Amino acid sequence: MVVLMDSADTYWRDRALLEWQLELGAIDAIGDAPVDRYALEVTKPAPKPAPTPAAPPPVPEAPQVDAAAIATSAAASASDLDGLSAAMQAFEHCELKRGARSFVFCDGQPAARVMIVGEAPGREEDRAGKPFVGRAGQLLDRMLDAIDLGRAHDDPARAVYITNVLPWRPPSNRTPDAAEIAMMLPFLERHIALANPDLLVVMGNTPCQALLGRTGITRMRGTWVEVLGKPCLPMFHPAYLLRNPIAKREAWADLLDLNARLREV
Ligand code: URA
Repeated sequence: MVVLMDSADTYWRDRALLEWQLELGAIDAIGDAPVDRYALEVTKPAPKPAPTPAAPPPVPEAPQVDAAAIATSAAASASDLDGLSAAMQAFEHCELKRGARSFVFCDGQPAARVMIVGEAPGREEDRAGKPFVGRAGQLLDRMLDAIDLGRAHDDPARAVYITNVLPWRPPSNRTPDAAEIAMMLPFLERHIALANPDLLVVMGNTPCQALLGRTGITRMRGTWVEVLGKPCLPMFHPAYLLRNPIAKREAWADLLDLNARLREV
């Protein structure tokens, strides 16, 4: 069947189509031929290149400092204990100095025959500015008194001189690390040379590490060794004895041995 459409029909059909397109939002006629946009290849606009961030300015390399070498030359320049104390206080390469309240150098009599080396100041020592004044220090005083030695003994021949590997308290009383020990060792060696005791006593692992180069106080205690040309007795640290009173037996044997050696030298 052939449908003949007259011009009025065409008019109304085209008008309906236009109205429908207007309803859809078409407002402009932009071309004579229709465009099938689904068939078009979608080409995304190329992303804009991200701006290249400016390179950060080069960080200047921190100069490498040999703190132990500086400590060695500062220690060597000290000709007496006051000079050594001043050189240590002027030493700026040990971070512990910044967290400590006091510089703790020594106690007792510098001319004593026995020099005792501990680890580092604890809280009480940091407050007082003197080594071994807390509970461990009080036990040390009782131990020394038992063999008639003391830091304030009337008889200079029975007096002791006391110092530590480190003059500044490590935070929370942690054990000094190897770098701190190595950095401060030249000062300790100079301290021993200037005090020039007859006998050395090293208490606990830290001074053993510093002066003997090894730890293992349980095996080493009670056996005399030579340190910087002097007889040296490793002993348990009094803080260890407070935690392990059973070890006081060995500590007592070491004290008797120290006393006997003092009478010989
Ligand atoms: N322990 C140490 O080794 N030294 C001190 O001065 C106090 C506690």
